Amino acid sequence: MSVFPGLLFLLLVTMAAAGPLRLRPGFYSETCPPAEFIVRDVMRKAMIREPRSVASVMRFQFHDCFVNGCDASLLLDDTPNMLGEKLALSNINSLRSFEVVDEVKEALEKACPGIVSCADIIIMAARDAVALTGGPDWVVRLGRKDSLTASQEDSNNIMPSPRANASFLIDLFWQFNLSVKDLVALSGSHSVGKARCFSIMFRLYNQSGSGKPDPAIEPGFREKLDKLCPLGGDENVTGALDATPRLFDNQYFKDLVAGRGFLNSDQTLFTFPQTRKYVKLFSYDQNEFFKAFIKGMLKMGDLQSGKPGEIRTNCRVVNSRPVDVLLES
Ligand code: HEM
Repeated sequence: MSVFPGLLFLLLVTMAAAGPLRLRPGFYSETCPPAEFIVRDVMRKAMIREPRSVASVMRFQFHDCFVNGCDASLLLDDTPNMLGEKLALSNINSLRSFEVVDEVKEALEKACPGIVSCADIIIMAARDAVALTGGPDWVVRLGRKDSLTASQEDSNNIMPSPRANASFLIDLFWQFNLSVKDLVALSGSHSVGKARCFSIMFRLYNQSGSGKPDPAIEPGFREKLDKLCPLGGDENVTGALDATPRLFDNQYFKDLVAGRGFLNSDQTLFTFPQTRKYVKLFSYDQNEFFKAFIKGMLKMGDLQSGKPGEIRTNCRVVNSRPVDVLLES
């Protein structure tokens, strides 16, 4: 067996993670001193208006960073020439609260026009969502640029289904230089927010084509889920991802130990031995969870495409360019 291809792969992943941009804490301390304050302030107001919205915004970091790096490609609306990521399989009828990012961007453009990237807004807002819901707070590295394009196809190919099992997820995360511990800790983001019945119908009624429910679901919880999501019912009805969906805590892991995980991709982390040990650890030691979560978010936030970028004025569209620049690119 040759070691070389593995090493080469690791090198490529590391290069992509390091990227050509040097991200650093306090990137806007001179060009836009109130930037981080403004992001948190808008997030706080959004949470008061609608508590779930901050969880929905936190999810953007995962769906942005895994698809060609953290470059706000996720936020681009479709154009006649480009199918964006918003309507990709994992995102359509599911990602929400884009208007909160618009609000943050508007406030930042007023304070310091053309300075703060939408990609950095996602990273700051995700951190703020966690801090505002009772989780840990941390210093983020900033200085990202916004992409000039988006790819629905790449999102379709990369983002995992709620049916995924732990061994699939371990392999997927490994491709992004994220360890088994990172995977379990980052899944702990499901400590906040909700999911649709659509995402669990198969595990309630036909797990792996068996015509039966997932045996890993605790019977009392299954009864609850059956009532929430009856066969033939409205699959847009939502249920909480853990028992305390407005609090960022380790309840999610306690629920997994009790067979009360909402998604198959959650419960599978307790079923598989490789991931189970971390679920157990985080279920009794919240501090360990918080430490590992921060580490995972920072690593995921470092993913870069290495492609050219810009500071968008509006997170939903690329900046317009003079015709000569368009002809050059
Ligand atoms: C490990 C693989 C993951 C899978 C398979 C997965 C899948 C899902 C699914 C299916 C939903 C509900 C979608 C719906 O029913 O409309 C969801 C919600 C959510 N996900 Fe994940 N996820 C994963 C990892 C992550 C990560 C790494 C983060 C962030 C760091 C994250 C943050 C969230 C949040 C906060 C919600 C709730 C959003 C809301 O209430 O609007 N997820 N995820």
